[in-house]
Amino acid sequence: MTDGGGVVGFGSGRNVPHYPPSVKRVRAVDPATVGRKLAAKRVAASAVPVEYLGLDGQDLPMDDAAVDHVLTTWTLCTIPDVDRALQEMHRVLRPGGALHFIEHGRAPEPKVAQWQDRITPVQRRLFGGCHLNRQIDGLIEGAGFEMTSISTYYVKGPKAFGRMYEGVASKPG
Ligand SMILES: C[S@@+](CC[C@H](N)C(=O)[O-])C[C@H]1O[C@@H](n2cnc3c(N)ncnc32)[C@H](O)[C@@H]1O
Repeated sequence: MTDGGGVVGFGSGRNVPHYPPSVKRVRAVDPATVGRKLAAKRVAASAVPVEYLGLDGQDLPMDDAAVDHVLTTWTLCTIPDVDRALQEMHRVLRPGGALHFIEHGRAPEPKVAQWQDRITPVQRRLFGGCHLNRQIDGLIEGAGFEMTSISTYYVKGPKAFGRMYEGVASKPG
């Protein structure tokens, strides 16, 4: 066992109040300084110590097998080289460790996915590099993870923006 987890795309720390008591320490990675300011109150109130460790999920400043868990929420859409970021998450997890994710991505219906492909260049420009059309489950498995559980669903609103992938994937032990 290691002593904690890593959060890639920490943002404004919206997940902080939801960390389970078993988490003893969190290392946060995010390039946005504005997010740090917004997260300050949540971090200060957190029972779990949060340490800002790095700026880029594509190049995690952590040893191999350093953490038990990695958490990513609404971030895999934005990281430019998502394959590399997932390889990094895989590298820093101990064997048997878990990647927890809630992400939006590619829709299963070909017509909706076509729209996502069309809209994504504009979406990227307007929303900080956000892709609508990434096949999140395939990307995770492609990095060497085994899917433990996954739930896919739509949130309210246009389908092109609302396909969710929520689950846990493990690094084979
Ligand atoms: C939509 S926000 C989600 C923030 C947070 N995870 C949440 O659920 O509220 C996307 C986050 O990804 C971060 N991000 C963008 N590029 C990144 C990168 N290369 N490595 C790590 N995080 C990145 C952004 O700064 C932003 O905080």
